[in-house]
Amino acid sequence: MARITASVYTSHVPAIGAALDLGKSGEPYWQKVFSGYEFSKQWLRDNTPDVIFLVYNDHANAFSLELIPTFAIGCAAEFAIADEGWGPRPVPAVKGHPELAAHIAQSVIQDDFDLTIVNKMPVDHGLTVPLSLMCGQPPADKFEWPCPVIPFAVNVVQYPVPSGRRCYNLGRAIRKAVESFDAPLKVQVWGTGGMSHQLQGPRAGLINREFDAAFLDQLIAAPAVLAQKPHIDYVREAGSEGIELVMWLIARGAMNDTLPRVAHRFYHVPASNTAVGHLILENT
Ligand code: DHB
Ligand code: FE
Repeated sequence: MARITASVYTSHVPAIGAALDLGKSGEPYWQKVFSGYEFSKQWLRDNTPDVIFLVYNDHANAFSLELIPTFAIGCAAEFAIADEGWGPRPVPAVKGHPELAAHIAQSVIQDDFDLTIVNKMPVDHGLTVPLSLMCGQPPADKFEWPCPVIPFAVNVVQYPVPSGRRCYNLGRAIRKAVESFDAPLKVQVWGTGGMSHQLQGPRAGLINREFDAAFLDQLIAAPAVLAQKPHIDYVREAGSEGIELVMWLIARGAMNDTLPRVAHRFYHVPASNTAVGHLILENT
């Protein structure tokens, strides 16, 4: 049977992708950000899974305000890189895993979560920046990501957004689905977005270090308690885009019920006008 081996959590700031793509990653400002991912790139080389189930949010690139799925599972064999206004990022297209994605859709929908099945979806910085941070830039002679990726898009852009509690329970349903897939696959679940940030209005640039640290502590050690946090607390304390953090609860819910091993923890301010947070948790 398939099993979940580890979960990865990281912010997905688009300026990080731009710094990489424009050759600025050696600059002192960006070195401080990328230093937190040196460990992670080696860890991923040492622990390459067969599939990554990547929880992220689309930023009005694949889905406009005309159609807003709360939870959308990418079931295609390939996903194009979205053009977010400056042309697509120069990174490989994302290969999917249609068999596992269809199995998870079947299992999770039968467990009463209403997923939207998506067979065509360009993926934006929410998905590609975490891949770049964790994998680096694939070489020209092997221009591909290290393994297939199932994109799982969550609406945290247009209200109403799903609660942390629902996201955590969905993660548990995803675990059950993976563990009932009849192939010996090692699967990682990644939760992306956050940490505290607000991109617009009078509070633009809001950073709440205390909130972020407490969120990481609780995500590791008391996720079921953290899952009860109402969405309005994220918005008040972590900024309007801090609500992206509920996606981390999906990845955490997919982990075993035992305390995970913290393989890596990193936090840095600033990247663009936001905080960057990053965790790697291994199932024990
Ligand atoms: C920015 C955009 C994001 O989607 C995000 O999660 C963090 C920062 C930005 O535009 O700076
Ligand atoms: Fe975002």
